[in-house]
Amino acid sequence: MNFNQKIALVTGSSKGLGKVIAKELAKRGCHVLLCSRPSEALSNTADEIIRSGGRCDVLAADLTKAEEVKKIQEETAARFGRLDILVNNLGGMKKLMPFDQISDQEWLEMFELNFFANMRITRAFLPMMQQQKWGRVINISSEVAVQPEPIAQHYCAAKAAVNNLTKSLSLAYGNQGILINAVSPAFIMTAEIEQLILKMAEKNQTSFEDTVANLLKHQSRSKHSMPRPAKPEEVAALVVFLASDLASYINGSNFRVDGGSIATL
Ligand SMILES: NC(=O)c1ccc[n+]([C@@H]2O[C@H](COP(=O)([O-])OP(=O)(O)OC[C@H]3O[C@@H](n4cnc5c(N)ncnc54)[C@H](OP(=O)(O)O)[C@@H]3O)[C@@H](O)[C@H]2O)c1
Repeated sequence: MNFNQKIALVTGSSKGLGKVIAKELAKRGCHVLLCSRPSEALSNTADEIIRSGGRCDVLAADLTKAEEVKKIQEETAARFGRLDILVNNLGGMKKLMPFDQISDQEWLEMFELNFFANMRITRAFLPMMQQQKWGRVINISSEVAVQPEPIAQHYCAAKAAVNNLTKSLSLAYGNQGILINAVSPAFIMTAEIEQLILKMAEKNQTSFEDTVANLLKHQSRSKHSMPRPAKPEEVAALVVFLASDLASYINGSNFRVDGGSIATL
């Protein structure tokens, strides 16, 4: 699979899943635009890609701010004149909270990060894809969009909204050569989550493996699902495929990469 210097923007790519998606796209010939708030991690990710022979640029921005989304769209238009692939990976949740403790402000912030930022970025970049009559948008959702947990309702609802928008936009833009899909992971062992689990294990004086098993046990997973988290590369592989020319008849779908954690088909 070779992307022949397609321009790909991966949001939230200084670390975690976004970083791995960016590296996998760069490995296959994409010119990757990395985006997160300015940080050492962001520059380090760019250095890693360049050192391994990939091509990338950094667009530092706080994507929850509408004016900064506008700024990176203008910068992309001025420097590259096109955007072929948009991976809306930005999102996540800081801590698990029960419903009665989630304030209005926390609901708003959760939707800003997981839904509104992605919606604004997509809206800003779709016109370029329309001009090219070719584009791929891949929204990183979550298993909780279709199988919510009994906590963190604000996160679950925001991801459900992402799935709904994915479907609606796929219907609006599919006939213009722009294919829009969602990828829904379950628990991913990113480098950052691995560090958190190591700290939890040390604090509770238990092993890394037991801590992971305990976390999996407390999620609403099918009892027959694979008894381990995903590696970020296992999620990135599907994103790369959906971004490629091979995925030329796939539009408006939600793909779960969850080791079978959702019990239904
Ligand atoms: N990890 C999992 O188990 C899991 C499971 C299912 C779905 N997901 C989804 O997968 C995606 C990635 O998750 P992750 O665990 O890899 O996240 P992560 O490690 O927390 O990374 C989030 C990325 O977004 C950036 N970011 C955060 N706030 C930002 C802002 N306001 N403006 C611009 N960039 C911002 C972060 O960099 P800065 O903070 O430096 O800006 C970082 O690069 C999310 O959509 C998440 O919901 C994750």
